[in-house]
Amino acid sequence: MLRKISMVIAAGLLAAPLAACGGDDSGSGSDSGSGSDKIVLGFSQVGAESGWRTANTKSIQDSAKEAGIELKFSDAQQKQENQIKAIRSYIQQKVDIIAFSPVVESGWDTVLKEAKDAKIPVILTDRAVDSTDTSLYKTFIGSDFVEEGKKAGDWLVKEYTGKTETVNIVELQGTTGSAPANDRKKGFGDVIAADPKFKVIASQTGDFTRAKGKEVMEAFLKANPDIDVLYAHNDDMGLGAIEAIEGAGKKPGVDIKIITVDAVKDGMQALADGKINYIVECSPLLGPQLMDLVEKVHAGETVPARVVTEETTFTQEQAKAVLPSRQY
Ligand code: AHR
Repeated sequence: MLRKISMVIAAGLLAAPLAACGGDDSGSGSDSGSGSDKIVLGFSQVGAESGWRTANTKSIQDSAKEAGIELKFSDAQQKQENQIKAIRSYIQQKVDIIAFSPVVESGWDTVLKEAKDAKIPVILTDRAVDSTDTSLYKTFIGSDFVEEGKKAGDWLVKEYTGKTETVNIVELQGTTGSAPANDRKKGFGDVIAADPKFKVIASQTGDFTRAKGKEVMEAFLKANPDIDVLYAHNDDMGLGAIEAIEGAGKKPGVDIKIITVDAVKDGMQALADGKINYIVECSPLLGPQLMDLVEKVHAGETVPARVVTEETTFTQEQAKAVLPSRQY
């Protein structure tokens, strides 16, 4: 399937011209050695919590290599303090650009200000921060998570058109305080609020992991005998929940309808097998666009303040058709 990335220039926001960055000193610990002309990019990744994240890391590492950009990569293991430490270390090492996917939305102003004072431009990838000072970063590339939640809600509303009985929904939220958890909850909630038959009877974080998705779903099933629908903020939690549902002697996709977000291979397989009913896509392949932005920002070119990833949705039939060519 063809995918394109659209560049959206948010109204009133212009990328600031760049000051010179410390490109002459990549500091210690550089993989390719100091003194090279390569752009040095420090990237702080959220962790390795999901299939999506693994594909995203690979996309970033492969694209950096392809573009001839020297990548300093760190895994924050889903902890904000680790990301802050990594960013401070990149500042100390005088990398040319810092990029990161913020584990949560709040609490970044101080470290972003430190990067700005050191004249190191910052690019946000995948997830947003809630800083009101948008001069603290150059651009933000990633999905529209509210829109993803809306797409999940739209499918549910269509699926239950003409039915009047109450629909009991349980929700597995992503990491507490993260942009995708906040926004996917909101988008979905806004759509289903229009019809009082939809009731979210339980909603809890599963931290975007399969293990936690299973554990929380087991608790949901014990406390609520009449669950009609599961909305999981990612495939991995949905896949964990499927194990819990089967363990409880129920049929996922039939006794309990399941909607997830991401469309990674394992999720798409479960969709094709009839265990998931609908998946909203969230593309992890941000690497090529990120490297393009890194080069432009480093060259002092104007970049859009917001780059939105274009994504689709999948039914069970569509999953069967695209599975053989799915990249991740
Ligand atoms: O930020 C993107 C989200 O993070 C993905 O949907 C999820 O799988 C990941 O862990």
